[in-house]
Amino acid sequence: MLQLDVITLFPEMIENAVSHGVLSQAIKGDILKVSAHTPREFATDRHRTVDDRPFGGGDGMIMLAETLEKTILKVKHKNSKVIYLSPQGPVLTATKAQALSREEHLVFICGRYGGIDQRIINHYVDEELSIGDYVLSGGELAALVTIDALARFIPGVLGHSESAEQDSFSQGLLEHPNFTRPRDYLGQQVPEVLLSGHHQLIGDWKKSVSALVTLKKRPDLFKVFLKEEKIRIQDSKRKNKQSPLLELKSFWSSLSSRDRESLGLADLKEEDFHE
Ligand code: ADE
Repeated sequence: MLQLDVITLFPEMIENAVSHGVLSQAIKGDILKVSAHTPREFATDRHRTVDDRPFGGGDGMIMLAETLEKTILKVKHKNSKVIYLSPQGPVLTATKAQALSREEHLVFICGRYGGIDQRIINHYVDEELSIGDYVLSGGELAALVTIDALARFIPGVLGHSESAEQDSFSQGLLEHPNFTRPRDYLGQQVPEVLLSGHHQLIGDWKKSVSALVTLKKRPDLFKVFLKEEKIRIQDSKRKNKQSPLLELKSFWSSLSSRDRESLGLADLKEEDFHE
């Protein structure tokens, strides 16, 4: 079972957020354990002080090393990875979330106000981690985003029908569009192939549609995908090695305009298929 300990001045933020949906199911099923701990527990003065003004002046209060350290030592053991949520860290990706899901024990430190004393980072933090290039008023939302994203990769957290393999980014591509009843909605039809019951055909079709969606919405990701796909084809023993871009273009040409409309791909153009 993966254990997550979150150090925060607002433990209720963490406890409330993990008490819903997929995360709460995983906790109930003993697949995941999430606990929140506050440095206030170790504050000894009358005001239970956990922060102070920065030396040298500047904005915001800095979380004190001493109370943070005591909280870290309460939860940390030799196989723990200690992560400080900070906009200065590398940005979280699906690959990173998957790697974190394989750890034994994670300790997340959430800063508030002006951040935490640098000496805690130097001495205790294994990694800093950001969830994007913007500043939040505390690390709690970042810790929750990270916990939610990594939990999806733990076997058993997602039901059979919602595997993480299908998620956007999992193969370097965005997810294909999805449809349910009715077959006709506002004059837009569910693509025929999805009604065919032909699983192999549907699987290949979905992968090609994923590639088209990625080309349209995230050309940066598509470029990386194309590069990797070319290497894969080079390495494989396939005889007729058609360029994956040309292959995708002919797949796109074969789609009816009705399907292109339904898939939200009507504005993709011939010129978009370039290296
Ligand atoms: N704390 C404040 N901003 C943050 C961010 N963007 N990511 C992670 N932690 C943060």
